[in-house]
Amino acid sequence: MSLYPVGIIGTGKYVPERILTNQELEQMVETNDEWIVTRTGIRERRLASAEEATSDLALHASKKAIAAAGLTAEDIDLIIVATITPDMFFPSTACLLQDKLGAKKAAAFDLSAACSGFIYGLATASNMIATGMYKHVLVVGAETLSRITDYTDRNTCILFGDGAGAVVLGQVEEGRGFRSFELGADGSGGDLLKVCGGGSRVPASEASLSAKQHFIHMAGNDVFKFAVRIMGSAAEDALQKAGMTKEDINLLVPHQANIRIINSALTRLDLSEEKAMINLHKYGNMSAASIPVALAEAVEEGRVQQGDCLVLVGFGGGLTWGASVLVW
Ligand SMILES: CC(C)(COP(=O)(O)OP(=O)(O)OC[C@H]1O[C@@H](n2cnc3c(N)ncnc32)[C@H](O)[C@@H]1OP(=O)(O)O)[C@@H](O)C(=O)NCCC(=O)NCCS
Repeated sequence: MSLYPVGIIGTGKYVPERILTNQELEQMVETNDEWIVTRTGIRERRLASAEEATSDLALHASKKAIAAAGLTAEDIDLIIVATITPDMFFPSTACLLQDKLGAKKAAAFDLSAACSGFIYGLATASNMIATGMYKHVLVVGAETLSRITDYTDRNTCILFGDGAGAVVLGQVEEGRGFRSFELGADGSGGDLLKVCGGGSRVPASEASLSAKQHFIHMAGNDVFKFAVRIMGSAAEDALQKAGMTKEDINLLVPHQANIRIINSALTRLDLSEEKAMINLHKYGNMSAASIPVALAEAVEEGRVQQGDCLVLVGFGGGLTWGASVLVW
């Protein structure tokens, strides 16, 4: 039961200054710019400085989102940080962020659903507001994937980057806001994309370090096939739940993993490339941060107008997926 219509009332993003180009990667592993651009669409990505951790990136993005919502940190009731690269095991990155922001009245927790984490966070937050439990929730997707990327593995190191995106959710006018969420998981595919070292199954040890188990391991081809299948179907399911059709879409904001995956979703949804927000050429795949950074940039660029129908859709490790339909 929904007491109030809930929507996004402020957006913000932050990416670190340091740019890692394809040309630099050519010096690090056996690869080349042409291969990376044709197979992925990525030209460069951002890397956090040695002093920056996930909560620092999250802080910059969150301050912008809270200001854009016309609020102060003390107005925030709950902070959800979607991340697979927390500053540390615990306390949660959300608690670290709560302190940095001075959001004294906010509860705080992290959410782990890999690249789908931001959509999972939106679904959680929007339901907490719709039922009257909270008024303003800060949802952040923030990652420093460079810290878990093996820069000697050409299969993965070309893909990932660091960044953070944040939104504030609150009550909106009738007719606007979230119309549906579609969340899913298939744990049987967990081995396809993982960091298995440093947890309770394989605690950090010299052996786990030398086996590089603290880095991302990925079966790229299998993840690619899953992504192509799920992006279109999750978006279609969310549209159906919202009682809307592909023709209603003004802007698709997809997870930014690979331009070929995005293009296959566009084909399935009969959308032209202009109807998708694409920024992966600049940032690569920032996991949970990709969708909120793309959304914040779309807002900055004036690509989102009041009344527009947006479809957000992502997939990732877990395996997980998520899609949402909202009216801006
Ligand atoms: C990783 C990915 C770009 C690889 O593209 P692909 O077209 O599937 O390429 P393949 O894995 O089939 O590899 C083709 C060849 O290129 C090679 N290759 C892999 N990475 C390379 C690189 N960076 N530069 C040059 N060659 C590379 C492979 O070793 C393989 O060589 P081989 O045929 O001699 O064995 C693609 O599979 C992908 O994007 N997968 C999804 C990844 C993803 O989205 N992960 C995050 C999910 S949130």
